[in-house]
Amino acid sequence: MGKMRTQSAPWRAAAVLASVLLVGGVAACGNSDTGGGGTKDDGKITMGFSQVGAESGWRTANTISIKEAATAAGIELKFDDAQQKQENQIKAIRNYIQQKVDVIAFSPVVESGWDTVLKEAKDAGIPVILTDRSVDSADKSLYKTFLGSDFVKEGRLAGEWLVEQKKTASGPVNIVELQGSTGAAPANDRKKGFAEAIAANPNLKVIASQTGDFTRAGGKQVMEQFLKANPKIDVLFAHNDDMGLGALEAITAAGKVPGKDITIITIDAVKDGMQALADGKFNFIAECSPLLGPQLMDLAKKVKAGQEVPARIETEETTFTTEQAKEALPNRKY
Ligand code: AHR
Repeated sequence: MGKMRTQSAPWRAAAVLASVLLVGGVAACGNSDTGGGGTKDDGKITMGFSQVGAESGWRTANTISIKEAATAAGIELKFDDAQQKQENQIKAIRNYIQQKVDVIAFSPVVESGWDTVLKEAKDAGIPVILTDRSVDSADKSLYKTFLGSDFVKEGRLAGEWLVEQKKTASGPVNIVELQGSTGAAPANDRKKGFAEAIAANPNLKVIASQTGDFTRAGGKQVMEQFLKANPKIDVLFAHNDDMGLGALEAITAAGKVPGKDITIITIDAVKDGMQALADGKFNFIAECSPLLGPQLMDLAKKVKAGQEVPARIETEETTFTTEQAKEALPNRKY
């Protein structure tokens, strides 16, 4: 057995000081390595999440998914509802920076205008995850990853279905479009994808296009205006189920039969939308999944641990016809 070396008092003091400095140094490195902004390193993750609002059935399902997943993952969630206002989201993100949360996640109300606040988070060493909607920042180092849907594809799928349905149409097919919130990624991208797809048939024409802000009330109000201004509407393309559901009321009140007199295409596939499709009031839905919570929590853990994550993670989605909606409805969770 080797002999233990005894230390003199000054040596012992120096050794204690060195180990304190070493531990402190490791802890400090741990914080910056993992990208966490907090000074504590108790292994627990605190996430600050800024939600768009509560504008639609999709959003409600998304909020539930995030809250439930945080609880299941043991992540402390600080949640803020921005009521569809960018300034509220910026305020919430600044609060999270001040509170030194470990990760900030948010679903940006609009695409533009985030560089300043994202830079503030980066300078504070707090990683940001974009979920559901993306931003148009040129500097991709301002956030770690994006988790959500391919909105252009959703619009394209909606348009391609219509092109197929109307391939034998000999005259003009008049389309009205209910856009999502102005400046929001899903509004910009779904419009783009749909326009690209219907360009395949010059008979298909968007005769009016206006925002209904992703809400039922907005959908109803704008559809009323469309119906007053346009005697012949053949198709409605609504950027989400809720606006389509609001439009149903306007169409019925105008004495027309939704799904027959006017073909209705929407996006999301939440329960109420699927019911309308199963009932033949809607004709086609391109799915957009709100169940992002579990993947988001998983990403937060990886990012906090300093692991590499893909720059973009897209959700798998499908489309529904009336028959498919009837089949899927009994098991639809949201
Ligand atoms: O960003 C996703 C979109 O936002 C959903 O399609 C819509 O319903 C919601 O309000």
